Amino acid sequence: MVNDKEVDRGKRRFLIAATSAVGGVATVGVAIPFIASMLPSERAKAAGAPVKFDISKVEPGMLVTVQWRGKPVWVIHRTPQMLATLQLHNNRLRDPNSNEPQQPPYCKNPTRSIKPEYMIAVGICTHLGCVPTYRPDINGAGLPHPWEGGFLCPCHGSLYDLACRVFKDVPAPLNLVVPPHKYLTDTMIKIGEDA
Ligand code: FES
Repeated sequence: MVNDKEVDRGKRRFLIAATSAVGGVATVGVAIPFIASMLPSERAKAAGAPVKFDISKVEPGMLVTVQWRGKPVWVIHRTPQMLATLQLHNNRLRDPNSNEPQQPPYCKNPTRSIKPEYMIAVGICTHLGCVPTYRPDINGAGLPHPWEGGFLCPCHGSLYDLACRVFKDVPAPLNLVVPPHKYLTDTMIKIGEDA
């Protein structure tokens, strides 16, 4: 026979279990809107999202600018002649071996790239953030001599070579940034994401 005490204890257990279950449901109900409010908006996600680009559109010697996270990212198709110039002026560069962490590890090499012919760099001067001008013209007007091709910042005269490495004796302290990127196919790159 079940006595009164056992019935009371059973009721209490039932009440505790029912309260916990209601509490659990309430917690989930509150937690979902909170997490949702912390998620980035679709527009914010798109603004920070990686960008795909077909590099086969870039003719040899050309530079094309792609927007990524509101920044100009250059895709430069370097010719064999352009690549041959990279070793000619190491002694005039501030960081010829890319020792500063201005590139992902897979671009810490003499061409600062995954494939030598394609240079990918954020086109923002490391001095005060102007956009340097592409000057591939050898010994062109208004440039120091010798000049093997590269970039001139219009704001305070900083100079970079065709691997976007900064020259000595200019205001910019660092090489241009190489963003994370990877090859999805032979001709399609994804900027903003790597392996
Ligand atoms: S911002 Fe480029 S040299 Fe000053």
